[in-house]
Amino acid sequence: MHVLGGKKIKGFEDVSFSVKRGEFLAIIGSSGSGKSSLLKCMYRTYLADSGSMLYHGDSGSVIDLTTASDHEILAIRRNEVGYVSQLLQVVPRTIAVDVIAEPLLQRGIGIDDARDAASGYLARLRIPEDLWDAYPSTFSGGERQRVNIARALIRAPRLLLLDEPTSALDPASTAVVVGMLRGVNPGTTMIGIFHDLSVVRELADRVVVMKDNRMAGIGTPEEIL
Ligand SMILES: Nc1ncnc2c1ncn2[C@@H]1O[C@H](COP(=O)(O)OP(=O)(O)O)[C@@H](O)[C@H]1O
Ligand SMILES: [Mg+2]
Repeated sequence: MHVLGGKKIKGFEDVSFSVKRGEFLAIIGSSGSGKSSLLKCMYRTYLADSGSMLYHGDSGSVIDLTTASDHEILAIRRNEVGYVSQLLQVVPRTIAVDVIAEPLLQRGIGIDDARDAASGYLARLRIPEDLWDAYPSTFSGGERQRVNIARALIRAPRLLLLDEPTSALDPASTAVVVGMLRGVNPGTTMIGIFHDLSVVRELADRVVVMKDNRMAGIGTPEEIL
């Protein structure tokens, strides 16, 4: 870290797992154990300087996410891999329905159809209708989080990375989001960080436990929890 006089931050050690197509892998562990960093490495927000992460594409291609070019990473971000961050990066001067519709517009879908699809998500996620054409910068944490989730789901990614998608939600909204995630196309693979172990029990096929930037365990929810 340049700002701290070249201080080195320890990376990961002994982290190794594979995720099958359509599987839901949960990552749990205490705060600071490296969960978000691991997800950011997969999305290439962070660049790992050793190790490998092999992504198997639809066409039979295999991409090592640690060494792929930025161009390849942008292409799979656009077409295949979605990421829901802990905090919504609000798109300036864009109303909620368009924040969600935007990925469809980028794919060439017309504005009316894109907004219809976006409105469907807003309704299912129980965002009050008078907020649909408001700016998410004024939204509560839970409302923003739901907009974020809708924006990711609307693209129907092959791989969805979720960083504590229910952390700002009350129990009713958590139940809605859990229901939506359960209803995602079975061909979609999901890797999600969760604090709420009851959510892990409901969603996960397998669980990875992180501790001090190491993988402390992997197994089914029954084995781990
Ligand atoms: N960009 C960064 N700069 C400095 N330290 C970081 C950075 N990202 C993560 N860390 C450190 O790495 C450790 C793991 O962080 P993180 O992956 O966010 O943990 P978790 O999501 O499990 O709470 C923490 O000690 C955190 O401070
Ligand atoms: Mg985190």
